[in-house]
Amino acid sequence: MSISNVHNNCSLSIDSFQKLREMFNERFGILFNDGDRYLLESRLSARILDLSLDGFEEYADLLSNTSQSGELESAIEMLTNNETYFFREDYQLNAFSAEILPSLQRRNVRKRHLNIWSAGCSSGEEVYSIAIFIAESELFTNWNVRVFGSDISSRMLARARSGIFSKSAFRNTSDYLRMKYFRRVGTEWALKNSIKEKCNFAKINLLDAARAGMLGKFDAIFCRNVLMYFDRQSRTDTIELFHRHLNASGYLLLGHTESLFNQKTPFAPVELHNAMVYQKREEAFV
Ligand SMILES: C[S@@+](CC[C@H](N)C(=O)[O-])C[C@H]1O[C@@H](n2cnc3c(N)ncnc32)[C@H](O)[C@@H]1O
Repeated sequence: MSISNVHNNCSLSIDSFQKLREMFNERFGILFNDGDRYLLESRLSARILDLSLDGFEEYADLLSNTSQSGELESAIEMLTNNETYFFREDYQLNAFSAEILPSLQRRNVRKRHLNIWSAGCSSGEEVYSIAIFIAESELFTNWNVRVFGSDISSRMLARARSGIFSKSAFRNTSDYLRMKYFRRVGTEWALKNSIKEKCNFAKINLLDAARAGMLGKFDAIFCRNVLMYFDRQSRTDTIELFHRHLNASGYLLLGHTESLFNQKTPFAPVELHNAMVYQKREEAFV
């Protein structure tokens, strides 16, 4: 095949775009709009070249083959927004620290166990920010503290597990916290073990109820800047998953553009200083 043929075949027809976006939506909940056709075309055409395929039609056929689920995962990794950084939306983390952590400390004082989930954690900055806030609170010394991070991207999870971050991850970090919890390694910064050892990561697709169902219960779940990319039904299914995996009166923290306002859910909005969060009510999901 000549190079010019390859380029022609790498234009994404409306039909193939439709097939691809339906597959991504069904499997991962992510909704691609009509305007995203060029994004899919530009990000996925290299994959077609790598696999020596004839074009997007053949690629869509390959992805629809259930034995190719690994390829579907590679494709979604090339399409998702993985933007994150330490202490993002810090007004909410401050409210978490000042108001939620003391209440969890009182509630769990007997078992001395604190369990937090960051769902859709990308390269881990959110997980480690939560663990740093917990350490800074000094409320959980000698407790069993676990901060669990999950994402669909193996590439992002590998970065998270490395605990090594470049300068841009610290765009909202005070020098005090950076110097206290990280050490310089060349041009990058490595997280200290005292925080790293409290955190662990796993690859979990929030739409994969069977795999996500294996998780235990959490005192609080952060899912920030993830549901905004989902369609309505996938958002509802994910909120229901979180409800099942929260302890009684557990907290759900969403991103600042995300809310449960137009949805009927067994969560009560709780207004903290400067931040809105949600608390699990003991009711069935309808
Ligand atoms: C914009 S990042 C948000 C990172 C972090 N929560 C924050 O607010 O800084 C969104 C992340 O959600 C992940 N994601 C998207 N769909 C997902 C799904 N179905 N299951 C799990 N993670 C998903 C993406 O891989 C990406 O890393």
